[in-house]
Amino acid sequence: MKKILAIYGSPRRKGNTTLLLDHAVQGALDMGAQVEKIVLRDLRISPCLEIYGCKKTGRCMIQDDFQEVYDQLLDCQGLMLASPIFFYTVSAHTKILMDRCQSLWVKKYWIDHIPYGQKNLKRKALFISAGATKGKRLFEGTLLTVRYFLDVLDMELWRALCYRELDSEGDVLKHPEYLQEAYATGREFVSASKVVEE
Ligand SMILES: Cc1cc2nc3c(=O)[nH]c(=O)nc-3n(C[C@H](O)[C@H](O)[C@H](O)COP(=O)(O)O)c2cc1C
Repeated sequence: MKKILAIYGSPRRKGNTTLLLDHAVQGALDMGAQVEKIVLRDLRISPCLEIYGCKKTGRCMIQDDFQEVYDQLLDCQGLMLASPIFFYTVSAHTKILMDRCQSLWVKKYWIDHIPYGQKNLKRKALFISAGATKGKRLFEGTLLTVRYFLDVLDMELWRALCYRELDSEGDVLKHPEYLQEAYATGREFVSASKVVEE
């Protein structure tokens, strides 16, 4: 059975995006999928040092917990990523992971010479986010960042669940409809990404 990778990008253990992702994961599990979880705040991952040690093989040279995440990202059939909005982008934990994936960008465009803009998005991703305010453009910058990040993984942004006006830890519990939507989306994700053979 192919795996879904679920990456938790909030520094909070029971944050809003954590609870939402937990529901999406439960939906996927209930559909028979295998899900591997990564909680970024528990890992030691250095920011990208921009030394381009990845130029030869496409593998980052910094020896830390990213090495295992790199393999998991390549190995999974679908990705669920959750991050709160911090200053109109993803959390620092999430951004550090994204920047380390520059090694994959190098592999794709410099080593394998895939032409820029050529889309071959073989896998799907679900992005989950929450922010405190209600501005119309709250998620705009983040979604652009997420799309470009997914491109290096040859993943399509299949769906984004973005919720406004959630601030304190557990605020999302006041909105059971958001949690239900996340659960249903997790279920749908399994069919959409064909992680379970039918
Ligand atoms: C460092 C920091 C920056 C934030 N920046 C924004 C922001 O730019 N816009 C916004 O609406 N909320 C912002 N917030 C609020 C969080 O997005 C909000 O509390 C969210 O629900 C947290 O999700 P979590 O519980 O999953 O971590 C910020 C919070 C922190 C701690």
